[in-house]
Amino acid sequence: MTDMKIYDAMRTLRAVRKLRPDPIPEDMLKRIFEAATWAPNGGNRQPWRMIAVRDAAAKRRMGELYTAQWAPYAVNYAKAFPKLPGAEVEKHKRTLAAGDYLAAHMHEAPVLVVVCFNPALMAVTDAKQDRVSVVGGGSVYPAVENLLLAARAEGLGCVLTTLLCADEPEIKRLLDIPAEWGTAAMIPLGYPVGQGHGPISRKPVSELFYNDKWGKPYA
Ligand SMILES: Cc1cc2nc3c(=O)[nH]c(=O)nc-3n(C[C@H](O)[C@H](O)[C@H](O)COP(=O)(O)O)c2cc1C
Repeated sequence: MTDMKIYDAMRTLRAVRKLRPDPIPEDMLKRIFEAATWAPNGGNRQPWRMIAVRDAAAKRRMGELYTAQWAPYAVNYAKAFPKLPGAEVEKHKRTLAAGDYLAAHMHEAPVLVVVCFNPALMAVTDAKQDRVSVVGGGSVYPAVENLLLAARAEGLGCVLTTLLCADEPEIKRLLDIPAEWGTAAMIPLGYPVGQGHGPISRKPVSELFYNDKWGKPYA
């Protein structure tokens, strides 16, 4: 068990993309997965399931598919470098290298968690708005965040990934996911190669929160 304070876990939950192949103790995995089950969700219908993929052949195939998605993404990502300030470029180069590592070593992570969702079990209250609907995801991603926080508290590295969602039909075939279920994320879990989680960089409250009305600074 871990006694890490929740605020410490939250403010150090950065993306960890370099993972060791060492197995994760089963009791630790169970604690992490149970934390996911505690997440809030619409109507408490828990319209998600997660598959802990440990099968070597399945992980290898997922790694191949991920690499094929990552490669063009990485090329695009690097295109923004010339417009960034010098210090930022170094940071983003490190992220890119870590992303390359994750893609190349995906199959070595001891567990790849595939997050599935069933739209028929969701009350999607924004479905009729003239924009992309996001409310359904609100019954899935809190469980993912609980899982990430628990993994972080246990000393495991992890990162929320979604690139494989572009290959949903093949992932569904590979893992026998029923027709009515979709895929929302994939989280590689493992002990970190280096330091793992650490400080994160985010916009401050003053930029992200308003007071009473949109745009009115939050004092
Ligand atoms: C919805 C979502 C999708 C993401 N997809 C990927 C992904 O496919 N691959 C990846 O390496 N990181 C992915 N990330 C991780 C983000 O790149 C990362 O959280 C962000 O760059 C901030 O980095 P930090 O958490 O290390 O500070 C995703 C994060 C979110 C929330």
